[in-house]
Amino acid sequence: MEQHEIEQLVAAQPKMRSMDQRFYTDEEIYRVEMEKIFMRSWLYAGHISEIPRVGDWFLYELDGESVIIIRAAEDKVNALVNVCRHRGSRLCLEHKGRSKRLTCLYHGWTYDMEGQLRAAAHMGDDFDKSNIRLRRVQCEVLAGMIYINFAEDAASLQPTIDDLGACLEPYDLRNAKVAHRQSYPMAANWKLAVENYCECYHCAPAHPEYSRGHALADPDQKHAEAYERVHQQAITCGLSQRQADKNYADAPGFGTCYTYERYPLVRGHLTGSKDGQPVAPLLGTIKDYFGGCTDFQVGPVTFALAYCDYVVIYAFKPLSHGRSDCDITWLVRGDAEAGKDYDHDRLVWLWDVTTEADKRIIERNAEGVNSRFYEPGPLSFMEAFTWEFLSWYQDALRA
Ligand SMILES: [Fe+2]
Repeated sequence: MEQHEIEQLVAAQPKMRSMDQRFYTDEEIYRVEMEKIFMRSWLYAGHISEIPRVGDWFLYELDGESVIIIRAAEDKVNALVNVCRHRGSRLCLEHKGRSKRLTCLYHGWTYDMEGQLRAAAHMGDDFDKSNIRLRRVQCEVLAGMIYINFAEDAASLQPTIDDLGACLEPYDLRNAKVAHRQSYPMAANWKLAVENYCECYHCAPAHPEYSRGHALADPDQKHAEAYERVHQQAITCGLSQRQADKNYADAPGFGTCYTYERYPLVRGHLTGSKDGQPVAPLLGTIKDYFGGCTDFQVGPVTFALAYCDYVVIYAFKPLSHGRSDCDITWLVRGDAEAGKDYDHDRLVWLWDVTTEADKRIIERNAEGVNSRFYEPGPLSFMEAFTWEFLSWYQDALRA
């Protein structure tokens, strides 16, 4: 499909309706999405606690690209492209490891943690190593969360780091640790997974476990009074006074949207768990449970939900035009010990059961969207945020 055909398809898309089938099935649209969205957006790669020591690294992979995320110094993380500058071999083959030198197994070219070539045998006397470095991609750390961007001229993440970072300060996520991380691969186009995350219209029918404790599942609970009460209690508990709302539509640069918004839990619930009771020690400097939780977002495909005792980060990514992955990270206080301060299964239960349900819903949705008989349908007011995502997406394709 040519660019002008994509533009026509976008122009023909009515507002507040699900999208034309071709957005989900056309391989060329998928290629355009890769270049225009994923190669230019800030993407969540992992948490700083996954590379605690200098030399620790792990790989981030997307669309055939592989990036080595390495702790180069106490306060420095580098994102080095996993392609040797000799003849292009992958250097790191494992998913993670630890080494202050990165050696390509093909011909032994060896690089330091800055990506500078340090050793290459039998290259002759006039061979100059000094100007050979691994390619890098941009890498920033926001409250301990490592984000990368493949574009050299990417919009800066700094305004997000400053603003959202200040909102997140009381959670002290840079000193948190990963209690669990799990991939939920799905047989569905990535947009169906993000569309589903962006709305809670499906929560009441599909997520009884979530709906028991979270007010978003029921629009009638959206009373201003409950929001205001929870907001005031949050401030009393030491959380940020301000909230942030740079939605898809008003992001300062391409794909740099971010949000930070609180909402109430159902009365009697302190956190997201089976019985609403705490599952881990209070995070950071938070003084007490305030009766709510906080959604936040960084860039177009990373979302998170912060409770007072844990945070779940949702990072979506395409695996192909018909497959995607939802990578979930559970963060707890850095000094919390499994089995003593928190029970792993109790901690993970809600968002595992909810995501397994989402995976089923999204895969069924994908089957229907791929049907000969699929036609776009009208969205509910409860899907307004899904529409924001879709309109941003359509603009991004045209950009
Ligand atoms: Fe869901």
